Amino acid sequence: MVDYEYCSQKLYKPHPLISMNHFIGVVAMPNFVEVAKVADIRAGEGKVVNVKGTPVALFNVDGNFHAMSNTCLHMGGPLGEGFLEGKKVTCPWHGWEYDVSTGICELSGAKVASYKVKVEEGKVLVAID
Ligand code: FES
Repeated sequence: MVDYEYCSQKLYKPHPLISMNHFIGVVAMPNFVEVAKVADIRAGEGKVVNVKGTPVALFNVDGNFHAMSNTCLHMGGPLGEGFLEGKKVTCPWHGWEYDVSTGICELSGAKVASYKVKVEEGKVLVAID
């Protein structure tokens, strides 16, 4: 039995047919995995890293790390091996360009998956789920 008054501080009482799990069970914590040392990727460079078997493109933009899918939307080129200029990476196969902070392809407007990144104690960690 859920004590709704305790959970909501009396500000909100959900409909009795809505499970309290709807409110408290759906917030999953990101599962971060160490993928590199900060020193491994210099500013202005990228690298392909492996997160639980998934290739991820990791970029260092002026000390800020960004992670996104490594697979280009055109024909699957390896974005982590592309040329990085500012926040823009150019696919090494045919030149499609992506904003590494959003995963958005400038040409098509489509988006590859982008992932959460954090830096702790000189380590770069990425969460893909
Ligand atoms: S595979 Fe990336 S532009 Fe063609």
